[in-house]
Order: sequence, then C-alpha cells, then structure tokens
Amino acid sequence: MAKMGIKEKYHAMTRDLMWDPKDYDYRTVYPLVEKEGIILKDPSRWEDPFRLAYNQYVKVQSEKDGIYHTVRNAFEANDGHARVIDSRWYEGVKAFASAVQPGEYMAHRLMTYIGRHIPIEAVRFATFNQAMDEIRHAQIEIKHYAHMSKMIDGLHNYQKTGQNSWFNTVTKSFFDDALTAGPFEALIAISFSFEYVFTNILFLPFASSAGAVGDENFAAVGKTVQSDESRHMALGMSALKMLLEEDDRNIPIIQYWIDKWYWRCYRIFSVIATLVDYYPRIRPISWKKAFEIYVEEQVFNGLFKDFRKYGIRLPKFAEDSIKEKEYYSHNTMRILDHYKHANMFRGFKLQPDDYEWLANEYPLFEEHYAPYFHRSDDNVLAGASKGLPGVCTVCHLPNEFPNPDNMAERWTQLSEYNNKTYATCSPGCKHIFDHEPEKYAQIWWPAEAYVNGELGTDLPGDLFKAWGTTPEEGGEHYSSDEHARWLEHRRHLGLDKKYF
Ligand SMILES: [Fe+2]
Ligand SMILES: [Fe+2]
Ligand SMILES: [Zn+2]
Repeated sequence: MAKMGIKEKYHAMTRDLMWDPKDYDYRTVYPLVEKEGIILKDPSRWEDPFRLAYNQYVKVQSEKDGIYHTVRNAFEANDGHARVIDSRWYEGVKAFASAVQPGEYMAHRLMTYIGRHIPIEAVRFATFNQAMDEIRHAQIEIKHYAHMSKMIDGLHNYQKTGQNSWFNTVTKSFFDDALTAGPFEALIAISFSFEYVFTNILFLPFASSAGAVGDENFAAVGKTVQSDESRHMALGMSALKMLLEEDDRNIPIIQYWIDKWYWRCYRIFSVIATLVDYYPRIRPISWKKAFEIYVEEQVFNGLFKDFRKYGIRLPKFAEDSIKEKEYYSHNTMRILDHYKHANMFRGFKLQPDDYEWLANEYPLFEEHYAPYFHRSDDNVLAGASKGLPGVCTVCHLPNEFPNPDNMAERWTQLSEYNNKTYATCSPGCKHIFDHEPEKYAQIWWPAEAYVNGELGTDLPGDLFKAWGTTPEEGGEHYSSDEHARWLEHRRHLGLDKKYF
C-alpha cells in the first residue's frame, strides 16, 4: 500500500469508520434522527472540529493527567489545605464538587448518546473524544474529594448526596432534561449553550479564585479540566453552524433550543455566581464583571452578531439575565443561607471586608442584601427557613427570585396544566414549562417526596441518612468543628504565627 500523507492518514483514522446499514432500515437503526424536525442534506462535508487522531489525543491527555497529579501530590504532601487563607473557601469547593462532578459524568453519558444517535462521522469522532474527556473530569474530581475528605466534611458520601439532596436536583434535572431530549437538542444544549456560552465562566473565575486563596490543588483541577474545554466549545460552534447551514427550516427549531438552553444553563450558574462573589476571601473578579466579559461581550456582542446572517437572534431571556447580574450572587447566597442547615456545605457569617467588597462592586447590595446578612451577626442561624424550599418546576432552584423591575416583588410565575398549578422561578423558566408541560410536570419535587416518606419516615434523621451526611455538616462555617480543626492544624504547623 502506498504511504499515506498526513491528510489521508488523518482521514483514514477519523473517517470511513462507519458503514451504512444494509440489513436493517436506516430509521430502525437511527430512530431519533428525524424526530426533531432537523433536516440534513449533506452533513458529510462537515469537518471534525478537533483535528486530532486517537493516538495524539491519548498522548496529550496523559501528559495533562501527569501534570495534574504532580500538583495534587505536592499539595497533599505539604498540608496545602492548612495553608489557604480562609477555610470557608472549602464550603464553596463542596458546593462546586457536589454539583459539578455528577454533571461531568452525565456529560460523558450525553456525549455517547449524541454520538450513538447522530450518524455523522465528524460529530461522532468529536463526541467520542469528549465522552472520554468528561469521564476524565469526573474521575479527577473524585480523586480530589478522596483527599479533601480526610480534612473536610460533606464529600464522603457523594453518591448518596448526588442522588438525593435537594441541592443536587438542580444539576440533575438539567442533565436529565438534556438526556431525554432528542440528540440534536442535546447537542445544542450541552455543546453550544453549556460549553460554548458558559464553561469559561465556570472554570476561569473560580480557578483563579482558587489560586488567589492558595488552593493549588483546586486551581490545578480547574486548569486541567478547562484545557479540554476549547475542543468542546469548537464542537458546539461547528455543530450549530452545520445545523443552521444544512437547511433554513432548521433555524426556528434551533432558535427555540437556544432560548431554552441559554436560560437553563444560566439558572444552574446561579450557584457559580456565589462561588465567585462569596466563598473566596480574595476575589480576582466579580460575577458581574465575569458575566460582562464572557457572556455579554464575547457571546452576545461578538458571536451573536455573526449569527444574524442566519436569522438567529439573542436568546429570548438574555435581557433578564443582564438585569440580574446586579444581584444574582447575593440573591442566590441568600437562598443558600436560608437552607444551610439542610446542605452538605455550610454558609458563613460575612466579615467586615466582605461587606466592603460587596458594597463596592454592587450598588444594590447595601440596600437590598446587607440587612439580611447582618441578621446573622448575633445568631448564625437567624436567616434559616424551616424545612425545605418550594422549587421551580423547571430549574429546581427555590422560587425566591425578585422581579428585576420591582425588587420588592417575587418573580414567581404560575402555569396551569391538567388542572394543576405549577410554579416557576422566572419568565424564562415559565416559557420552558409552557412549551413542554408534559415533560416538566414529571418533576421529582424533593420537599414533597420527603414529606411523602419516599426517603424514610423519621424526619429529619432519615433525610440526612438519605443524603449521606449529618446535620453537623451543614450550618455555619466559622462556628463549625471543621473550622476549629483547621485552626488547630494551622497551629500545629506554626502557620498561625505572624512574622511582621
Ligand atoms: Fe467536563
Ligand atoms: Fe466540557
Ligand atoms: Zn426556574
């Protein structure tokens, strides 16, 4: 056989790997490919955006893993946990961990689902690689907890927490929604809306906060995960362009998916807003600025300008998210504070420097949020709500968002379906509910399920068992045993001494 050039070799190793079914009908083999109304004319002309053969992929990834594990080993050997500037940081890491790790695993499943049901080689090769990336992320994150669990609470039973905790139903409902959508919708949901629009804001600001507070281990997790994201973003972009260019009839379908998944993604990022603005004692950037850079400038003002030629406009509820940037993190932190006794991570009493930073960055903070947080000054559980929240039927966040045009009013929306009333947190979520009420009416509503005895009848004791945690793992950080242990560890290492 004649020797192949680079291009042919690449093609041979990433294309021509499929056959067309002959013994069975195409529609039987690919039952979902025509279900969503997407029209494909000649998708074979689409190039795989990764431009990577499998052997190169493995080489690059193993190098990255080697770098990450070297940093992690050094961190573990040098008592890195005792050296961060404030242990409350780890409460944020726990929130991140419990929400993101199961999300990574589900992203892996989603990629294999998309690859199975969309018979386009370029998409298949890309999802094949990304499925492996996502399982790598899930494993790195589990390895991270395995070590952190020796020092901190909350992560020792993450399987149960991920399965049953009310907080995790936010991530869970998001990925379940994508996995029960058709394969093209799932592709737009994850590869475009999640990866392209939002992952920069997920990994960059929080990883730089990790660096700023001295958590080298977590900064390394963020960096190694983020290094795969440029490929995931490239898949999202090229898949979107491919579907838009294949046929004009695809455009309104895609516009609806963009409207829906922009809002779905934006809502799960509410927790990330608190991880940027609240948990780190030193903040390199605010949520508001990060949102302006990564979403408003790069996506709305940059990318969506290029989409106009296809007839694609900004996501329907883009304007609402722009308004919410003024208070998104404060409002979400207040929600987390209300239920901090029922979580596997804690809230914390704000310190004077926190009040100062928040007031400087956010004109609305002083009037609308500072008074709430000051209630905890004398009693750290002053703001705790009894029981569990009523949540949005779509995004599963508590229905506790204010109307941005009138902060004194709740934004909660109601819809009727089959003689029942369903509440959603915002017009964005209501729009999604009203489009597919039969889907969202299936909600597994944590508060209702617990009260119905689904997870045991001895409340709240059985609940904590189901979540895999104890009441001591929730509550307030600075008054916790975990904080006392951290201070003791520092004393033991001599880190409490001031030298100048
Ligand atoms: Fe990932
Ligand atoms: Fe990703
Ligand atoms: Zn919602």
